[in-house]
Amino acid sequence: MSTNTPIAAPAKTSLASLREQMDLVVVGHVDHGKSTVIGRLLADTGSLPEGKLEKIKAQCARNARPFEYAFLLDALKNEQAQGITVDAARCFFNTAKRHYIINDAPGHIEFLKNMVTGAARAEAALLIIDAEEGIQENSKRHGYILSMLGIHQVSVVVNKMDLVDYSQEVFNNIRAEYLQFLNNLGVAPVSFIPVSGREGDNLTELSANTPWYTGKTVLGQVDAFETYKGDADRIFRMPVQDIYKFTASGDDRRIVAGTIETGTIRPGDEVIFQPSGKTSSIKTIEVFNAECPNSASAGQAVGFTLNTQIYIKPGELMCRKQETSPRVATRFRANIFWMGHSPLIAGKPYKLKLGATRVPVELVRILNVLDASELSSIADKNHVDRHDVAECLLETSRPVAFDLAEEIEKTARFVLVDNYEIAGCGIILDEEAASESLLAERVHQREMTWEKGFVTPGERAVRYGHPGKFILFAGQSAQVPELAKRLELKLFLDRFHTYYLSTGNVFDHLDQDDSAAVLTREDQIHRLGDLGRLMTDAGLLFITTLKDAEDFDLEKLKLLNEPNEAFVISVGDSNLNRFTPHLSLPADLDISEAIGLIIQELNKKGYLPEYSI
Ligand code: GTP
Ligand code: MG
Repeated sequence: MSTNTPIAAPAKTSLASLREQMDLVVVGHVDHGKSTVIGRLLADTGSLPEGKLEKIKAQCARNARPFEYAFLLDALKNEQAQGITVDAARCFFNTAKRHYIINDAPGHIEFLKNMVTGAARAEAALLIIDAEEGIQENSKRHGYILSMLGIHQVSVVVNKMDLVDYSQEVFNNIRAEYLQFLNNLGVAPVSFIPVSGREGDNLTELSANTPWYTGKTVLGQVDAFETYKGDADRIFRMPVQDIYKFTASGDDRRIVAGTIETGTIRPGDEVIFQPSGKTSSIKTIEVFNAECPNSASAGQAVGFTLNTQIYIKPGELMCRKQETSPRVATRFRANIFWMGHSPLIAGKPYKLKLGATRVPVELVRILNVLDASELSSIADKNHVDRHDVAECLLETSRPVAFDLAEEIEKTARFVLVDNYEIAGCGIILDEEAASESLLAERVHQREMTWEKGFVTPGERAVRYGHPGKFILFAGQSAQVPELAKRLELKLFLDRFHTYYLSTGNVFDHLDQDDSAAVLTREDQIHRLGDLGRLMTDAGLLFITTLKDAEDFDLEKLKLLNEPNEAFVISVGDSNLNRFTPHLSLPADLDISEAIGLIIQELNKKGYLPEYSI
């Protein structure tokens, strides 16, 4: 006991210099004694400031109020607020082994929100159960949530043993019942400990009141938990938070920044960014105000410069090229814990936050809904209520990179946002083949109900001399709009029915008019795809350009334009990996030459009649 030092300031600031650090969370049903166990632990480990305990006890006596160890936490909160931490739900203590941050979780919703937003991170948990009251709703719910958040180190603390005469039978019964419940979740608790928070039994020393118990004390258990140190040896994963440009004169380097979730990386390592599939290699590792280190590992916030200049966006997952790649998909099966005020329903847009990615997402199907406290199936439910747990199929509006929960839980966790509110959290169980998609379903539906005029597309094509076609330029080059306009002019002069649309006319313009509804990339692609469908249906050679077009954008536009065809021309460097354009032109090609090549290709494909050349 005497090895412990008084309560310390939070240590997040200088990770490496301090002794090992661990985040713990204490959960359990209301009044089962979470705060008491923590308070007593602080007192018995000598982690309290000098005279604190006496002061609170005296205060209680003055007010004729029975002393509670839980009061210590409130008192410490005020104290710490004057110091460094502003986080009132946490307290700190040291053992000879490491520095602890304890998160007292009064309500599971708050706790969950903190956990999923990263405000609180726990590597291990103490789950408190009142020996007298036994297993309650939240004892189970919290067990489930811990498993879902990937906190596998759980010690079950059976508290208030003094109220049941330190009965081994009561303890054994609770253990048997709760073990059964956890087994169904696939969670194996590391231990069950009989304690009395109030009396201090089995917290820091084994108690004579429970001679039948020879396992670890709570303190011994806490020190026996393992930190995430092992993460450094795992597959490398870093969500890209931001791309910074160096501002120094003449310097055009970029820094790719983020926090490493798992693994270790060194200069020279080849990396791949997903979902874009872009590759490069690490040139330097950059840290703030210090020499470039020669490696960086899990838990560190770092920046990298790359050996080649590639165009990537925040939200991508940086991985090592030689290692198992993450999944890249738009559909996945997930377990979700819902805490939103309105239920989770199909057909409503939500936002998915996964790593550094933010992407629109929809519920495709509910596979199974469970009552989280009973884990019993609720049959035929078509929505997920607050506090329900559900296995669902979700679809994002563009591909996201992730791992499965059983592989790397850190890159398998996500949050669902409903109207600016964190409404759910979940873990990805499996990816689903994208053989179907909500978009394809909608396009199919649209075509089924499309009311046609009396003029058929065939008749229109005969009259115009060519079928309607969506001609799309993809590429960053500044020449692209000029090229597109010149193509329109050339086709027009050749008596084709054509129309050039600058995307700015339908994107930016609308943004200005309706400031509340700034178009997302997804909305823009949708609008363009719908326009393509209309213009090609009208029999036109519809020409437009899309800057920064990615594979998925083009796949989507192609789908939205169906049943009509699209012809994609990439100019210069493109972001395309999977999607093969119908024609690729170098950026520096003379415009007339480029137009010649385009027309030649359109002819070759039979899209334009030969006589037009
Ligand atoms: P919430 O934060 O409200 O969810 O409660 P909690 O889980 O933090 O419980 P807390 O520590 O506040 O304890 C609730 C009540 O149980 C208090 O009156 C404590 O004195 C009492 N209590 C806690 N531990 C023990 C114990 O080991 N034995 C006995 N007899 N009472 C206890
Ligand atoms: Mg409490």
